[in-house]
Amino acid sequence: MTRKIGVIGMGNVGAAAAHYIVAAGLTDDLVLIDSNEKKVAADALDFQDAMANLPVHTTIVFNDYDALADADVIISAIGNIKLQDNPNNDRFAELPFTSVEATKVAQKLKEVGFDGVLVVITNPVDVITSIYQSVTGLPKERVIGTGTLLDSARMKRAVGRQLALDPRSVQGYNLGEHGNSQFTAWSTVRVLGTSLTNYLKENQLTLDLEELDHEAKVGGHTVFAGKKYTNYGVATAGVSLAVAILSDSHAELPVSNYRKEYGTYLSYPAVVGRQGIIQQVQLDLTEEELTKLQTSATYIKEKYQEALD
Ligand code: 2OP
Repeated sequence: MTRKIGVIGMGNVGAAAAHYIVAAGLTDDLVLIDSNEKKVAADALDFQDAMANLPVHTTIVFNDYDALADADVIISAIGNIKLQDNPNNDRFAELPFTSVEATKVAQKLKEVGFDGVLVVITNPVDVITSIYQSVTGLPKERVIGTGTLLDSARMKRAVGRQLALDPRSVQGYNLGEHGNSQFTAWSTVRVLGTSLTNYLKENQLTLDLEELDHEAKVGGHTVFAGKKYTNYGVATAGVSLAVAILSDSHAELPVSNYRKEYGTYLSYPAVVGRQGIIQQVQLDLTEEELTKLQTSATYIKEKYQEALD
């Protein structure tokens, strides 16, 4: 069975995602869409030039929404690349632009009858994922935001550096909004077979957990300050989510998914497979973590309402 992925928005993030997909040979067919038709045609040709030096082949078409109709997964990487001066990397600064663009794209996907799984990177990702879901009418479990999959990776990077561990050897989650109201749920963070807090106690180590939480939260700001955008971290999160779907992996990932008890999309671990979210997870969070999650959910809903007004 051949695999087809679509990437909509070939700016810094979409181009990084498409390059990962082509170089790693993750799909048989790739559809590239961008409002700048000249640029995306050049991207397609550029990828053809890469093919001669790759061990895998990908058939690429571009700017053809009809070709998206039977895509297994579509990645929305639309962004406001004009937004160069956003010191706090406030994802909601993009909302006026991205809510309009995402609505237009969602309407086109509905028109062509797209019936696969939609992976949303576009910021503010929790709100934009909600908009995609409501405009396309796709089932909630088949519209997923990358959310704190990226922030959890940043937390793993920060904790891993402190403990001289590969970030893949740090388990745990950042939860809530992919933005400034998110938090690291330290009760979920484990290293070397035990909870982080236990490990620190057993080894008479101390870490400034507040500082590490902050480092994970502002990881995007630091990158943004250096190059006025971020792309590799978030593109890799988006593609790894797409692969988890395509391969029906049943992987547990902290992604932005609709949580009934909060009445909104927010990042919380869920099991991901061919049909999107196939099982929701229930964490045993502390009272403090539950309060933070509720605060974040309330913030996301307020911002969603603003986008609708
Ligand atoms: C980030 O945090 C772009 O929101 C994305 O890097």
